[in-house]
Amino acid sequence: MKYSKTRREVIKTMGIAAMGAMTLPFSYFCKREDNDIKINENLNTTNLKKDTKDEMLKRAVPSSGELIPVVGLGSWQQFDVGSSDNDREPLRAVLKLMVDQGGKVIDSSPMYGRSESVIGDLTSELGLSDKFFFATKVWTRGREDGISQMEDSARKMKRDVIDLMQVHNLVDWETHLQTLRAWKKEGRVRYFGITTSQDSVHDEIEEIVKSEKPDFVQFNYSIKERNAEKSLLKAALDSGTAVLINEPYDKGNLFSDVKDKKLPEWAAEYDIKSWGQFFLKYIISHPAVTCVIPGTSNPKHLVDNMGAGYGKLPDENGRKKMAEFYDKL
Ligand SMILES: NC(=O)c1ccc[n+]([C@@H]2O[C@H](COP(=O)([O-])OP(=O)(O)OC[C@H]3O[C@@H](n4cnc5c(N)ncnc54)[C@H](OP(=O)(O)O)[C@@H]3O)[C@@H](O)[C@H]2O)c1
Repeated sequence: MKYSKTRREVIKTMGIAAMGAMTLPFSYFCKREDNDIKINENLNTTNLKKDTKDEMLKRAVPSSGELIPVVGLGSWQQFDVGSSDNDREPLRAVLKLMVDQGGKVIDSSPMYGRSESVIGDLTSELGLSDKFFFATKVWTRGREDGISQMEDSARKMKRDVIDLMQVHNLVDWETHLQTLRAWKKEGRVRYFGITTSQDSVHDEIEEIVKSEKPDFVQFNYSIKERNAEKSLLKAALDSGTAVLINEPYDKGNLFSDVKDKKLPEWAAEYDIKSWGQFFLKYIISHPAVTCVIPGTSNPKHLVDNMGAGYGKLPDENGRKKMAEFYDKL
């Protein structure tokens, strides 16, 4: 199947979207071979490689113009594992496939147990450290403790420079933002941001986005939990702040809602082949969203998720239809 826009046009359009055009045309097309992913139930990862010559859709980080692929990876729980092959083999496959499928952003936190170390170990062991965009967080109080924790994170992730350092759940955010502004000037982090995963904190984080204009803001948003649509997403767009979306599957709960339910036929109009892609394309198609970070340790799910970064996206009417369909399930 061939689509009408070239990759360059798609990237340009999406970059403009993230830079602030609320009225962008919603119908994006990605030139791509018709190459369904062969998913092997036994997780034989050689069959998971998608034979595509095209790149994943990208959005621009407003503060720099850097283009980043729209689907990334979360690591809470999934990467908090021991050092046995049994624990780590699926994660090696996940990381290799992610690079293969064009994903880049991986999100962690000192709150996620061994996750930062496991990411550092595996990306370095696989020789893939330079293929990822490393995002992690500071989650403590006080300037000195914050500095020590951030240095520790860089050591664990085996990076001299962390791409994105975020203040986790706004803990002592005023202190850490001061440090991070200085660190950005010194080149110790490339970007800084703030996070939450609670609707009840959206108003507060919106005020901080407007007043502090961080490079990134990360918050929860899904087809089920749409509070961010009230004003937070638009505020981020207007403030020139890139948006990472966490809990896009409402921690996996969305899959229970659609258990034994068929995708609507019209989902194919947006190149949607699974419920996962239905949920992720709903998010990615919002013009304020820079990257969505579903968590998984399952190679098959990873490929499914990355697939949402390719092909057509719904326009505004399509998004409405998707939300109404979900609401009636
Ligand atoms: N305040 C914060 O900063 C904050 C808070 C929460 C989360 N986060 C970040 O956001 C990331 C994502 O959130 P989350 O992991 O809590 O929730 P989520 O991404 O909404 O859901 C993860 C769940 O969905 C399942 N899943 C993933 N892909 C799937 C697919 N294609 N098909 C079926 N099931 C699938 C995963 O199971 P499998 O492993 O079996 O695939 C897991 O149970 C976190 O990992 C973390 O990095 C940040």
